[in-house]
Amino acid sequence: MDQELLNKIRENVDIVEFIGKYIPLEKKGKNYFGLCPFHNDNNPSLSVSREKQIYKCFVCGEAGNVFNFLMRYENISFQDAVKTIGEEIGISVTGNFQVSKNKNQKFYDIYEIATKFFQNNLLSEEGAKARDYLKNRKLDMDTIKEFQIGLALNSRDTLTKMLLKKGYDSNTLNELGLSTNDYDTYIKRIIFPLFNPKGEVNGFSGRIYNGENINKYLNSKETLIFKKGENLFNYHRAKEEVRKVKFVILMEGFMAVIRAHTIGVLNCVATMGTSLTSEQIALLKKLSSNVYLCLDGDKAGETATIKNGQLLMDANLNVKVIPLSDNLDPDDYILKYGKDKFISLINNAISYNDFKIKKLRQGVDFNNSDDLSNYINAVLKEISLENDNIKREIMLKNLANETNVWYNTLEKKLNELLSNQVKSEKTYFEVSKKPKKINKYEKTMQILIYYMLTKKEVITLVENSGVYFPEEKYRILSREISYFYDKYGYINIADFKSYIENNGIINEAFKEITLLDFELDSNPSEKVILDYLMVIKNYNVALQIKRLEKLIMNEVDPIEQAKISNQIMKLKIGSENND
Ligand code: CTP
Ligand code: MN
Repeated sequence: MDQELLNKIRENVDIVEFIGKYIPLEKKGKNYFGLCPFHNDNNPSLSVSREKQIYKCFVCGEAGNVFNFLMRYENISFQDAVKTIGEEIGISVTGNFQVSKNKNQKFYDIYEIATKFFQNNLLSEEGAKARDYLKNRKLDMDTIKEFQIGLALNSRDTLTKMLLKKGYDSNTLNELGLSTNDYDTYIKRIIFPLFNPKGEVNGFSGRIYNGENINKYLNSKETLIFKKGENLFNYHRAKEEVRKVKFVILMEGFMAVIRAHTIGVLNCVATMGTSLTSEQIALLKKLSSNVYLCLDGDKAGETATIKNGQLLMDANLNVKVIPLSDNLDPDDYILKYGKDKFISLINNAISYNDFKIKKLRQGVDFNNSDDLSNYINAVLKEISLENDNIKREIMLKNLANETNVWYNTLEKKLNELLSNQVKSEKTYFEVSKKPKKINKYEKTMQILIYYMLTKKEVITLVENSGVYFPEEKYRILSREISYFYDKYGYINIADFKSYIENNGIINEAFKEITLLDFELDSNPSEKVILDYLMVIKNYNVALQIKRLEKLIMNEVDPIEQAKISNQIMKLKIGSENND
């Protein structure tokens, strides 16, 4: 790997701007903070340092430079991350840079072949009826192509046969759900390919189109590469648009997403009928912190809106609701009312809290005092759950207006509710205090390594001291830092991180070390460094004494015993002089 090229690319990308494209960052002191996309974060615990060009999360411990961020975020290899970022800034990365081959590549290859196969069927003579069906559903050829919609014919083994002929074994085809007991799984269905977040086909959903009285949709079973709860339909296509418009619309079915696409609303994804999983929430979070729910306009859709909305709120996302009516799903709605009406619905999306309150209001008789006070109490409870005090005040004012109850009375009641709530708001420093037990010596080694990475003078001090790090990973790290500094004439955390990218153990040790940034003085005196070095030296002596004492116990020859004992003495005296 060409280290100089890596350094050059990294140098040309500012990490704050780069990460800022993915998650909102806010400046606090020297660093920038945002919600960590690598764990279910509730307080901004991802810190990004412009000065050091690294990021770190002090809750989950994830840390690294721009390459590592993209790698983790997009789930791609280090090489691919370097390539992508290189391309973004116009540095082409070629040569010995191998794009890593996915270990499940074969499965994706098979799905790709199957997708093409189904697409061809749809265009064939036998596909006429299915084409009519799609035409009736107002899906034009462009859309069919874009979503790679296909057709499984009325025969039990065409796909299986074709894939066997290509040399794939029947076990694999059964495992992937393309065959069932060596026959085609999908027969006489319109095929909608499903994609993983990277945009590779990893499953199918097959829809009946001829009025058959069987399951409307037949989905891929859970396989090595397909987990329904870990996908969001259209994620990879919506990604770009979501970044532009800064919100994502969550729907239930993929037909709704496809329909929205036909009218140019490109920032939609769908759960495909399942309840929202934590993996899907994590995916949404990666896209945007603003999620608009646009579920079906029936009772079930309403219940799901309340439930999913709460899950999203709990994940600290801003949630709005696009309510549909008359039992329509977004597909039906757009077909019935058209593009402009739908877009104005989006523009008038209401906050999740307002949606909930609107639901509470339904059927309440404002002239009945019991009804009214129940309603007021229920709304106050909702308001008490709102964390933003400005929003709380607005909601309270609205409640006072609509019920004609004096604002101060409502406020008093609200304050009672609030003081009853156990305040579980933790600052992120509390959260971060997940004490990981490390002893004083290990900590000292980490501190020394940290300073070697941030102050080149410390490298020389460590080298000159001849200190021996009793733990291998720190030994390797210090050696590699010296090597990097020797070779490139400078040192910084961000470039050194690229340099050790492929070294598993020290890569892990490195993450812990970057977290020290928070607690350490950024400009230690030479004396402080020498003291740290002394701690390690004494530790080595103590370890040596321990070893010799063990030896003495097993030694039978009194002369040898005396020799060892002498050695121990010398070590003890030497280390006393060090103190
Ligand atoms: N679904 C499913 N199996 C079913 C019904 C639904 O997997 N038998 C999933 C599908 O992924 C579908 C979503 O749930 O996209 C929503 O279901 P539904 O509202 O019934 O389907 P529509 O999207 O309205 O599809 P269509 O208009 O073709 O009926
Ligand atoms: Mn529908």
